[in-house]
Amino acid sequence: MTDVIRVDPATPDPAALAEAAECLRRGGLVAFPTETVYGLGVHALDRAAVRRLFEAKGRPANDPLIVHVDAVERMEPLVAQVTEPARQLAARFWPGPLTLVLPRSGRVPDEVTAGLNTVAIRVPAHPVARALLTAAGVPVAAPSANLFSRPSPTRASHVLDDLSGRIDLVIDGGPTQVGVESTVLDLSGDVPTILRPGAVSLDMLRAILPHVERRGSDTPSSGALPSPGLLERHYSPRAPLTVYDGSDAVARLLRDACASIAQGQRVGIMVADEDRPALASVEGLAPRPTIVDLGPAHDLARVASRLYAALRELDASGVDRILARGFPGDEGLATAIRDRLRRASAQS
Ligand code: TXA
Ligand code: MG
Repeated sequence: MTDVIRVDPATPDPAALAEAAECLRRGGLVAFPTETVYGLGVHALDRAAVRRLFEAKGRPANDPLIVHVDAVERMEPLVAQVTEPARQLAARFWPGPLTLVLPRSGRVPDEVTAGLNTVAIRVPAHPVARALLTAAGVPVAAPSANLFSRPSPTRASHVLDDLSGRIDLVIDGGPTQVGVESTVLDLSGDVPTILRPGAVSLDMLRAILPHVERRGSDTPSSGALPSPGLLERHYSPRAPLTVYDGSDAVARLLRDACASIAQGQRVGIMVADEDRPALASVEGLAPRPTIVDLGPAHDLARVASRLYAALRELDASGVDRILARGFPGDEGLATAIRDRLRRASAQS
């Protein structure tokens, strides 16, 4: 049985969180909201509990977890050394959607790091996550609270859809704000490298550390295995997803939608608000397509916050395929949205 506790996202009830914290300390699996997506938390120093978490998610054991703490000082025992760049980035971006990968200390179990000699750490900003971490008083390893390879959960209902009966508790603090997972920055090698793009952009990081690179540019790897969260197929809906980029994206999307509908397929369409008038031509067709608006194309914060919920909504409506427009741009969220859409649409 999975219990659900509802809390006010801004001022969560301390008694409710005390219960959840106790569950974590005893080795339980507790899903909780962060500002990015819901995490599935477990006592990071409890090896048996960490193994149960991998089992509950169906996650391969070679995919390391992010350890969440409530303050920079709590990171110290977990890493070999808090380097100067780490200190500067933490001062600027924590609490917030940035994860730092650093050489680890001996205290962090192999189960958490998948045997790597580095550990990923983040101080989340969501008031519920912060209060929970403080109440628990232990480092909390937390992947996104979805079944492996499914879209990350941005609402408690998404967590329950994937993990009901497999975990102890869900803290329902309403929808998350950012909607895509944290930026993962590897500080363990010579060149600080973004392993996963997120709301903290390359430019924001370069304002603090000028030599940050994106992964994929010709930076020498730190010797670590490729970050498994960077698996090509990830964050995927069940229905195959096709993404349309470029200036004629919506026209091509419409043409393919019409062709699929003509073959009797149930089609899901994911677009921006301003694409809606152009869709009038397919809206009247049978079988009627299911259309989800992500918000105005320029409002990437809104688009990112709705992205995973939209993929899950379309899946739940039973469509045979999903057609989505891409979102151009170079800022952090545009890069993150493109990255997630690309992986969600990759063939297995
Ligand atoms: O926003 C987030 O980061 C959310 C919330 C819950 O905090 N968490 C999350 O966790 O997205 P997860 O497990 O779904 O993704 C963790 C990513 C994976 O890509 C993993 O490979 C990478 O972080 N990672 C973890 N430890 C690492 C390490 N030592 N070296 C390189 N990559 C690491
Ligand atoms: Mg994940």
